[in-house]
Amino acid sequence: MSLQGKRIVLAVTGSIAAYKTPQFVRQLVKAGADVKVLVTVAATQFVSALSLAAVSKHAVLANVNDGATWNNHVELGLWADAMLIAPCSANTLGKLANGLCDNLVCAVYLSARCPVFIAPAMDEDMWLHPSTQLNISKVKGFGNHIIPVAHGELASGLVGEGRMAEPEDMVAHLAMFFSVENNSLKGVKALVTAGPTYERIDPVRFIGNFSSGKMGIAIADALAEKGAAVTLVLGPSHERAHHSGVRTIAVESAQEMYAACIEEFKSVQIAVLAAAVADYRPAVRADEKIKKKDNELTLALAKTDDILAGLGKIKQSWQTLVGFALETNNELEHATGKLTAKNADMVVLNSLRDEGAGFGHDTNKITLLTGDGRHKTLPLMSKKDAAASIVDQILELRHAENIA
Ligand code: CTP
Repeated sequence: MSLQGKRIVLAVTGSIAAYKTPQFVRQLVKAGADVKVLVTVAATQFVSALSLAAVSKHAVLANVNDGATWNNHVELGLWADAMLIAPCSANTLGKLANGLCDNLVCAVYLSARCPVFIAPAMDEDMWLHPSTQLNISKVKGFGNHIIPVAHGELASGLVGEGRMAEPEDMVAHLAMFFSVENNSLKGVKALVTAGPTYERIDPVRFIGNFSSGKMGIAIADALAEKGAAVTLVLGPSHERAHHSGVRTIAVESAQEMYAACIEEFKSVQIAVLAAAVADYRPAVRADEKIKKKDNELTLALAKTDDILAGLGKIKQSWQTLVGFALETNNELEHATGKLTAKNADMVVLNSLRDEGAGFGHDTNKITLLTGDGRHKTLPLMSKKDAAASIVDQILELRHAENIA
């Protein structure tokens, strides 16, 4: 993960997550970046400017003018290769969305010509408030990159959305953005599905599965890292894509995922269907909560539409379609069957018999099966590395078929 030689202006605003910023600066510096830190007055109640100066090895600036010194905000904005506002409080977000400029952070933001990354951090209710969401879509609309909030414990004691992304994830996010190493998918559009689907039984219950969405999200990020414009159709999951080249469409059921995929598939060159889609949904969805009565309850289930098979039917020669196969026995045989039956170009096989593979883990052990009858088994590796291998194999396939 390299940020070698990158100049980064880090603006720290008033949120409890500011206490993580000295650690974050250290990680940025370790990755090779030169970091200058700005703080708002509120930020200094959560983190000391002295700590930030010590780790960044630059003076920490808070005001446009520090007595006799004029801190040139235009110069700072021009110096930086990227500006990162982390944590970005609800208050600062509101200012950014509306062009207010009552401190140095806002002045540098308004004069920055470099890409700006915003890592919001606040309590879940503040995060979900319509005004915050409106401000987020406004600043996105200005071309800023939002580093998605994480899900977890919040300072309020609640558990939910709104935590600042972890420092290592933010470093990865920036590194991915700057990764010029490979732009082999520039101009290419890709579709990825990830996560489980929930099939509603009644207003309070559903049929679901344990998929975390991590594998599919890692693939979406890996495709975006190579320059692709990615649409991620994501079932209910707390995980989020890191790369700003990934646009997420959130869905709940197999039917919603099917509809989104059929629509998106028309314009993409690559589709990777990693979601664990429910094969069956309740035949009838009760409008009211089903009451407890008899000792046994039988639910009639109806088959869902198979998205991979559906896309396989309409696939064009310039499109590469990749599916997954999660198996517990006769793995190769079943996976090959799926490859043929669903008209995919490649199937990524996961065996639940492999330790460290499958749902929930950060690692995976995969076998890549291609239409030419070949298969390649990879060792146990992180989902991120597995995603990179899958993307490399897709590139190889497209190259071999001259549809790069
Ligand atoms: N899939 C899909 N739509 C469905 C079910 C599965 O697109 N309704 C896709 C999955 O995203 C995956 C592939 O089909 O890419 C294989 O999924 P898997 O669950 O392994 O196989 P199934 O075809 O559902 O068969 P089975 O459950 O009998 O193994």
